[in-house]
Amino acid sequence: MRVAVFGLGYVGAVTAACLADNGHQVWGVDVDPGKVGTIRSGRSPVAEPGLHELIEQVVSAGNLRATTDPAEALMGADASILCVGTPSTIEGGTDLTSIHSVISDLARGLEVVAPAAGCFHAVVIRSTVPPGTVEECGRGLDGRLLEQGIRTGVAMCPEFLREGTGIADFYHPPYTVIGSTDADTLRSVRELFCFIDAPVKEVEPRTAEALKYACNAYHATKVSFANEVGRIFRRLGVDTREVMNLFCEDTQLNISARYLRPGFSFGGSCLPKDLRSLLHLARMESVDLPQLSGTLTTNRLTTTDVVERVLRAPGRTVALIGLSFKSDSDDLRESPYVDLAETLLGKGYEVRIFDPIVNPATLIGANRTYVESRLPHLRALFKKTLSDALEDSDVVIISYASDDIEHALLGAPPRRIIDLDGRLGSEVEALSGYEGVSW
Ligand SMILES: NC(=O)c1ccc[n+]([C@@H]2O[C@H](COP(=O)([O-])OP(=O)(O)OC[C@H]3O[C@@H](n4cnc5c(N)ncnc54)[C@H](O)[C@@H]3O)[C@@H](O)[C@H]2O)c1
Repeated sequence: MRVAVFGLGYVGAVTAACLADNGHQVWGVDVDPGKVGTIRSGRSPVAEPGLHELIEQVVSAGNLRATTDPAEALMGADASILCVGTPSTIEGGTDLTSIHSVISDLARGLEVVAPAAGCFHAVVIRSTVPPGTVEECGRGLDGRLLEQGIRTGVAMCPEFLREGTGIADFYHPPYTVIGSTDADTLRSVRELFCFIDAPVKEVEPRTAEALKYACNAYHATKVSFANEVGRIFRRLGVDTREVMNLFCEDTQLNISARYLRPGFSFGGSCLPKDLRSLLHLARMESVDLPQLSGTLTTNRLTTTDVVERVLRAPGRTVALIGLSFKSDSDDLRESPYVDLAETLLGKGYEVRIFDPIVNPATLIGANRTYVESRLPHLRALFKKTLSDALEDSDVVIISYASDDIEHALLGAPPRRIIDLDGRLGSEVEALSGYEGVSW
């Protein structure tokens, strides 16, 4: 394909060189004449292992050229790739000036070079941009171009490379994500990256845009988590590197997909207690652990958000399906659903509870003491059958999914379902009153 790569920094220089090395005819475009001149002379504009040699090779083979003139690069081009910077604004927002500028260049440039009527030009965003940017760019390109019969399609394809290992990462991403729902765009992008041996994921543009933020936020969270663990335990004479090495060896719960589904607050007899205990140790040692203490704040807010959503809607009767902190357990200690029920009762709601595992009459020990301290009239709130709980309820809050529950919801759809668990089937999700807790 003939490709124009806009932005010749760390991402753009690697992208342009690797595409040129795999049979594409590539023009690199940058507003910085210094970077363009460097590429023209067969050198890399950024320090990146192996990139100098690769650029020298593809430039001398005539597969990579560079220009400051977008129209020159767009002559006969099938696709454009945006690798321009998206730095922070003073307020911390995303400065999309360079993205908008390239979109204007594309609208003008494609008009000037006037590709054959009916031809298609794919626009691929590699820069990290907030959800909604692809749609905005699409609107910026349609209009005059469409009047001329030039069709364009915009896709978000997040870049996962890291500086220092840029070329290797470019060739071995975890997956190639294509955020587009347009068939021509999907076809073009697949062809563009066909030499990369990685699974291709076709998703909504907003998913692709959000994914990169989720990845980077998670990576930053991991670094800070390890550092907070290190800061507190070092004070307590612990070999913190050994702790974290062992921590990482657990690929069942720690380095795994476990606990990474959007959903409701955590609870139970261990996580809140042990987090409080660790934060107490830190206070005793005068060590600040803002990330770990923020975790408790986030947990509270997750519950508060659901309470607010119930309060904003009409009706005073709530059915809570599932009370224990985890499906298939009757442990109510620090269950976030007990907290939710307690808060709604305090606000004057009639709360009906159904949990197929929990029997209030047989609870014993710490479990019973805990729930009696929070919900003293638990037996009166408990309904023997699911239908007793659901009947005429204004809001049904689900923390426990099963076939029986799905059938009941489908048989007599409630006015409103708030799903805290995310395991109800697609038929329930399609009901008009359905809403996910964070999806
Ligand atoms: N650096 C990384 O490791 C990395 C990894 C993945 C994603 N990203 C994302 O990719 C994007 C680019 O990052 P980078 O580190 O390569 O940035 P960079 O600052 O190194 O390069 C951006 C280039 O774009 C050029 N540019 C600006 N406006 C332009 C325009 N209108 N036309 C043509 N060129 C223009 C600049 O002159 C510069 O050379 C950012 O959104 C970044 O968040 C970066």
